Amino acid sequence: MHDVLPEQVSSWRRLEATCRRVLDAYGYREIRLPVVEHSELFERSIGDTSDIVAKEMYTFADRNDERLTLRPEGTAGCVRAVLEHGLLNEGPQRLWYLGPMFRYEKPQKGRFRQFHQIGAEAFGFPGPDVDAELILMSARLWRELGLDGLTLEINNLGQAEARQRYRAVLVEYFSGHMGQLDADSRERLHRNPLRILDSKNPAMQSLIQGAPTLDQHLDAASARDFDQLREILDANSVRYRVNPRLVRGLDYYNGTVFEWLTDQLGAQSAVCAGGRYDELIIASGGKPAPAVGFAMGLERLIELAARSAGSAVDSPHAYLIAAAPQAQARIMQLAEQLRDRVPGLRLVLNCGGGSFKSQFKKADRSGAAFALVLGETELQNGSIGFKPLRGPGEQQDLPLDQVVAELARHVAG
Ligand code: HAM
Repeated sequence: MHDVLPEQVSSWRRLEATCRRVLDAYGYREIRLPVVEHSELFERSIGDTSDIVAKEMYTFADRNDERLTLRPEGTAGCVRAVLEHGLLNEGPQRLWYLGPMFRYEKPQKGRFRQFHQIGAEAFGFPGPDVDAELILMSARLWRELGLDGLTLEINNLGQAEARQRYRAVLVEYFSGHMGQLDADSRERLHRNPLRILDSKNPAMQSLIQGAPTLDQHLDAASARDFDQLREILDANSVRYRVNPRLVRGLDYYNGTVFEWLTDQLGAQSAVCAGGRYDELIIASGGKPAPAVGFAMGLERLIELAARSAGSAVDSPHAYLIAAAPQAQARIMQLAEQLRDRVPGLRLVLNCGGGSFKSQFKKADRSGAAFALVLGETELQNGSIGFKPLRGPGEQQDLPLDQVVAELARHVAG
């Protein structure tokens, strides 16, 4: 679990602002969800054969002996909230959320125990149009974030019956190769054989490559939806690869599934992943309603953005040097006026006194573009010393209006 230090926070804020803008542009509305839920919610939704439920949840008993869990993902809680508040009575819903998630995983590059997701969920739309919308929306986000080199993999898991048939075929195939199965896979063989396809064990890869694929067993409606999804992606020039072995690690999926991958973060290659989970609402006690969504890992996106652009820090625009200690009140008043008159101005006031020289040093270290100087002379003249710190130019004494104009021009970019 990590602290996000001030110099990293500007990248986070930029990423979040871009995500908000893009989600707004598609009519997704923000929902804020609790970090803690009843453990049973995740066990039921994500599935007890998944790694998340079997080994990764932070679960504890509260003072009333209720079993609670720090949320490992956002979909289950979002479904709970939608049902609890009857949001679907108002019609289909496009929602998004942002926040920390917790999984007791082995930490490594790109994989943390507390990490952050932005997730988008669309409820009440049968698809495949909205499935495509989610993919187009994520593709737009990569463009706006300046990330290229992400690849999209898609698959269709079919409806429950088709998956049941496929399951039997897989069990038969893997049972014929018992000797090549690792311990995890042997355990999954009868409980959840599809998850064997998700194994990252190099020794298992050739066996997995040889396994029968689901597309041969897909139901007609899912096959039609999958064709339509591809048609929309093609028409919008979104490149993708059909990966018939993409199964996802959570049990609630059916139909469309997809993942955006990078080759720049080692083993943790998925930056955004999701799919359709049409059965989850009914299994959670709601009236049947189709659902689809995705979540992206913000730490992974931050890391990629830093690689492609270098991270910019939001330094102050100006640093106010206050070299007339007896005029503190007047100086603070002036700082307030500047903030009033220049919207968006980041102005840092030197607090705690100090010589001219030491204040200039602090101004420089702050990364500010300008030092504003208020000493005895300036106060007497009613002027402000204005000195560029990042480029050529001597200090000038300027009237307040002109300082306001200079700063406003700088802030506007
Ligand atoms: P997920 O594949 O478990 O799906 O996680 C989505 C994304 O969260 C991953 O692609 C990755 O970028 C990020 N992520 C997951 N675990 C970690 C970790 N330990 N450290 C850093 N980043 C991580 C879900 O969570 C589903 N709820 C997605 C969804 C929404 N499906 C439908 N709607």
